[in-house]
Order: sequence, then structure tokens, then C-alpha cells
Amino acid sequence: MTNKILKKYAPLAAIALLFLLLLALRNSAFLNETEVEGAGRPILIQGPMPIEAEKFAQKLEKVKVEKSGTFVFYKGKLDNYPVIVAKTGKGMENTAAATAVAIEKYNPIAIINQGTSGGHDPKLHVFDIVLGKSTTNIGSLKTESKNENEGMDPTQWIPMDLMASEGSGSDPNAEKIRYYEGDKDLLAAANAVKDTYTKGKVVEGTIGSADVWNNEVDRIKWFHTNYGTSVEEMEGAAAAQMAKAYDVPFLGIRVLSNNKTNGDKYNPDTAAANQEYVYEVVKKYISTIQSK
Ligand code: 5AD
Repeated sequence: MTNKILKKYAPLAAIALLFLLLLALRNSAFLNETEVEGAGRPILIQGPMPIEAEKFAQKLEKVKVEKSGTFVFYKGKLDNYPVIVAKTGKGMENTAAATAVAIEKYNPIAIINQGTSGGHDPKLHVFDIVLGKSTTNIGSLKTESKNENEGMDPTQWIPMDLMASEGSGSDPNAEKIRYYEGDKDLLAAANAVKDTYTKGKVVEGTIGSADVWNNEVDRIKWFHTNYGTSVEEMEGAAAAQMAKAYDVPFLGIRVLSNNKTNGDKYNPDTAAANQEYVYEVVKKYISTIQSK
């Protein structure tokens, strides 16, 4: 009788055992994954163009490539700490979207937006690097009111703060320039390793961003005087705005690839040089997180 029962239920018991075994295996794999993530929230390094992201991505270990829309994320390790390089594409829209997607997907502990830029300060030269003590949108402007045949005068345009509250015009702060402050710990890490960079000087300054490449020296001077910009590019302020929206520490790090104000010609090699420097900044930042 017992033999009969045993025979009848043995296959069932075997299946149940197999099921339990599979469950245990799956759980241990899951644990491994969370352990890896437990190594810390990743640091996100953004670069707009292939030449501004891929050099850094090549330096990471154990890289996995993930894509979201046109954005490419290289997930890897640096000094055993999780680092994600994001190739965002050029311009404010690509950058804002790539930043929000990365924050939602990867919950970064900090964001560095880096790449090339054009000088607004005649004292800065190609290969010099600007650390964004502040970053601001130089494309968000409101024109004067003029009637037909009264012409146009960009020197009279007024800054428009996209984050000012309620409606247009009703907020007294709506015409103020909004500056996004660079995170002090990221700035400290960047300053701590600035001697490792020998191709130019590293200074703190203001990064201005818009979907515009300014080549009119008088207009560049106008931004330099009225906004205090050291350099211009097309991404930093969009990333800074998203980082602020989610309360993630942020820093822009921009190398000059050109400077119309002193005649310095465009040099694409600056993109790789900046990534070498940012790599040192990230290593330093990781060591400060780990010693906390
Ligand atoms: N003006 C605007 N963007 C510049 N870039 C480099 N120099 C300049 C400049 N003078 C960067 C932008 C964008 C790409 C066109 O190069 O950030 O990604």
C-alpha cells in the first residue's frame, strides 16, 4: 500500500523539489544583483557627441550598454564603483530628456555634464577647462515690444526664467537670470585634482547654454558682461535644470575647443583631453564618497 502511494506521488514530489531548487537559484541570482547595486548609487557622466563620451566609456570596466530612445548608457565600474557614461546627443532637448530618463532609471548620486565649449572670456584659451560654479540658460529670452518696421534689437532682449512660478509676467522674478550652482563636493573633487591637468588651466566660472552657436563677438561680449559667462555650449543648463528638479548634485565641466573673442581656432582634440581630466575628478569623488 505505502509502496503504491510512494510510486504514485514520487513524480509530483520530484517536480516540487525541482521547483524549489529553481526558486532558490533565482533568489540567489537576485541577491547578487542587489549586492552589486548596493555598492552605491552610480555617478552619471554625460557627453553630447561620440567624441565627448566614448573615450570615458572605454575607461570603464565590466561595461554593459543600454539604450533608451537615442540615448546610450554605458554602465560600468571605476575603482569598483558604479559609473554610467551617457551619450546624450547634442542640445538642450536631448540633454534634458536623457538626464530625466537616467535619473528615473539609475538613481544617480551625482551628475557631471562635460564636453567642449566656446570661450566668452578672452583670457581663456583652447584646452583651458571651466568648472561650472554656476550654469545658466542663455537662450531663454523675451524680446522688446516693437511694431512693424521698428526693427529688432537683441541687445534689448530680457532674460526669461523658465522656472519662475505662475504665468508669464505676473512673477516679479520672471525676468531674473537663473543660475544653477555647481555642487560643492563635486567642485572640491575637481579642484583637488586640477594639477593633474597639464594641457591648459582649470578655473571656476559660469557656463551658458542654448541651442545656439554664437559667432558674433559683440553678442558674445554682451553675454559675458550681462550674464558673466566664461564659456558657452548647448547642454549644461538643461542637465542642471533636471538635476535640480530631482535634487541630484550637479557639476558642468567644459573644455574650450574654440574662442572667437581671442581668435583661438577650433580643436576637436580638446574633447578627449577633457574626459581624461573628468576621469581624475570622478576617481577623486569616489574616494571621498568611500571615505565617508
Ligand atoms: N557654441 C556652442 N556650442 C559649442 N560647442 C562647442 N563650442 C561651442 C560654441 N562656441 C559644443 C556644444 C554642442 C556642440 C555643437 O559643441 O555643446 O554639443
